[in-house]
Amino acid sequence: MNNIGLIGLAVMGQNLALNIARKGYSLSGYNRSHETTEKFIKEKVKDEKIYPYYDIKSFVESLEKPRKIILMVKAGKPVDDVIHELLPYLDEGDLIIDGGNSYFKDTDRRIKVLKDKGIHYLGMGVSGGEFGALNGPSLMPGGTKEAYEMVRELLLKIAAKTDSGECCTYVGNDSAGHFVKMVHNGIEYAIMQSISEVYDVMRKVLKLTSEEIGDIFEKWNNGELNSFLMEISYKIMKHKDDKTGKPLVELILDEAEQKGTGKWTAETSLDLGIPTPSLNLAVVGRTLSFFKDDRVRLSKMVNRNYPENALNKDDVVEDLKNALLFSVFSSFSQGMWLISEASKVYGYGIDLKEVLRIWKGGCIIRARLLDFLMEIISEDNANLLLDAKSVKFLEEKIDAVKKVTKLAKDNYIPMLTVNASLDYFYSMSEENLPANLIQGQRDYFGAHTYKRIDMDGIFHTEWQQD
Ligand code: 6PG
Repeated sequence: MNNIGLIGLAVMGQNLALNIARKGYSLSGYNRSHETTEKFIKEKVKDEKIYPYYDIKSFVESLEKPRKIILMVKAGKPVDDVIHELLPYLDEGDLIIDGGNSYFKDTDRRIKVLKDKGIHYLGMGVSGGEFGALNGPSLMPGGTKEAYEMVRELLLKIAAKTDSGECCTYVGNDSAGHFVKMVHNGIEYAIMQSISEVYDVMRKVLKLTSEEIGDIFEKWNNGELNSFLMEISYKIMKHKDDKTGKPLVELILDEAEQKGTGKWTAETSLDLGIPTPSLNLAVVGRTLSFFKDDRVRLSKMVNRNYPENALNKDDVVEDLKNALLFSVFSSFSQGMWLISEASKVYGYGIDLKEVLRIWKGGCIIRARLLDFLMEIISEDNANLLLDAKSVKFLEEKIDAVKKVTKLAKDNYIPMLTVNASLDYFYSMSEENLPANLIQGQRDYFGAHTYKRIDMDGIFHTEWQQD
């Protein structure tokens, strides 16, 4: 009898299986395509106790009870299909763990259906890509505490470790784990977009080579901006194409793809009424990039009047660094506010500091900045901005952000996310927004009423009599 089962032996599944087996567990593996399983066993498995199964029945029968089965299959219908196939062979008390990027509402539905059949279900965010899956991912499991306890020890063993402990915690009830992973990805999009915008200014305004930008990113990665995404960005900038010898990044088509988690984050922020403009605009940035033909055509129709000011390269680079820090902080703060609101609305019971802690290692958005965020966040202070330390951090960088966004505008360079981060801060720290005029307009054309600042009550005006 094996300790645990894993279905879905694509690269992530293979690496997670190896990670689990290397922690001393015996594992049954199953994949829809038998060739994939055979290839995995032949090429990747050495001394690990990983055993292949070629039909669901014998796979399930190979597991000790209560059975624990991890699904590493594509989000959406494939998850439902596998659950459907498994169900006839499962017993009450068995546990299914979905380790894919499933939409949180799907996870809620599955938990409900399976609960009625006595089957436990955990929706678990797994971050860190192929390397993380093998060497220690960040794990975000959500569901019942009881289900979590069934695999707690194993999950803690396979997760990444940092000076703050294992990068795994019980995230919360129901779909809390997948919700947190979704927002993790929303933040991931925003940070990636912010780094790319800063890169754009460096190459187009400062006329730096990819190699030079790589050196700057590497330097940044040794300081406050230290993070996985900064690290891979400097490595990407320095990577030479084996065919041409040119920096590979310069040969990659500028159309950014997406699988949906960033879009779900943006949609959910609108549903829950929490402003996350940097996250939303990062999705828009990817969508926009896809219209390459239109962009090429329009670029030939537009006249550009470039400024001729002499720039001090070092000063601009320093401003770009601070603008990036500002945008990264802002993106995290927006994401955490969204998680906090979801926790209230959906009754997840999420400990926000724990979420930041388990993001410190293993995952794509791991960053030195998380230590600072952990100092600030609390249940009463889910909006990270509302803190004297945050305000100081952002105010110290605001001149840099203003200079960078102006420089970008003067040079026709879009900075969707960095601009959104600045406007978010301006909006959130503005006592008087022009929403009074919007309320007047709504009342004018639709009698939608408004409130006044000088007296209580709800008012409507017959504007047309003016
Ligand atoms: C992670 C990543 C991972 C995946 C993204 C890519 O945390 O390990 O987020 O889940 O690489 O989903 O998403 P896009 O294809 O939408 O960029």
